[in-house]
Amino acid sequence: MTADGRRLAGVPTGPGYASHAVLTEPVEVPDTLSDHEAAALLSQGTTALAAARAGRIAPGDRVLVEAATGGVGSLLVQLASRAGAIVVAATRGAHKLAIASQLGAHEVVDYSVPGWSAGLEPIDVALSSVGGATARESFDLLRTGTGRLVLFGYAGGAPLDVDASDVFGRGVSITGLWGTYSTDAVREAFASGLSPILGAALPLSDAARAHYLLESRSTTGKLILVP
Ligand SMILES: NC(=O)c1ccc[n+]([C@@H]2O[C@H](COP(=O)([O-])OP(=O)(O)OC[C@H]3O[C@@H](n4cnc5c(N)ncnc54)[C@H](OP(=O)(O)O)[C@@H]3O)[C@@H](O)[C@H]2O)c1
Repeated sequence: MTADGRRLAGVPTGPGYASHAVLTEPVEVPDTLSDHEAAALLSQGTTALAAARAGRIAPGDRVLVEAATGGVGSLLVQLASRAGAIVVAATRGAHKLAIASQLGAHEVVDYSVPGWSAGLEPIDVALSSVGGATARESFDLLRTGTGRLVLFGYAGGAPLDVDASDVFGRGVSITGLWGTYSTDAVREAFASGLSPILGAALPLSDAARAHYLLESRSTTGKLILVP
């Protein structure tokens, strides 16, 4: 908050957590957003917008969203639905599947169940952030000739493993995404009308617990640390 009452947001230049940070290019937070909504849109909103754009989602496309109730995933479900896609939300457990449905997913699938992808129709766009075997199954679901996989993370710790011959042999594409932050991207995210899920808000002194929650995959939406 500035002395004249404006709320500013931005990504600090250094890594880690801090109660105070220097912002080189702050963006003003509009009155329509709470502080926590702005924090959610700052990084996860810009990433979701870039991933959806990279996927070139067209009306009627079948779009698979991995980790569909996570910070980025929950925004991607909204963006794909808004683009007129048939949204297939992939996550784990009844609670998260129910949240994905509430977000507007047309189909939900539990990827903790072995063989989860077997019954699904081909996918036009896979928005992939989990990595490992999950990402591989998403890749295998791509529609031959036109399928597009947007790769923007591997939260599970192991990156997607595919052979180049799998890519050209099936006529599908993989687009990598990294570092989507810019002041223009933040302004776009703030104006997007997206509704981030606000998960737990913990004091900065509880950062270790926040990491525990993330690692145990018990969070949905944005986990906030309050300085
Ligand atoms: N490319 C970029 O510029 C960029 C920018 C921001 C974030 N990212 C990446 O995007 C991904 C999502 O970020 P986010 O902020 O949305 O994270 P998040 O809210 O913490 O969501 C991550 C989700 O991944 C799933 N997951 C699968 N395996 C996991 C594991 N071993 N440990 C923890 N979570 C696991 C969990 O959902 P389920 O329980 O449903 O499986 C979890 O909720 C991350 O991989 C992050 O690194 C990339």
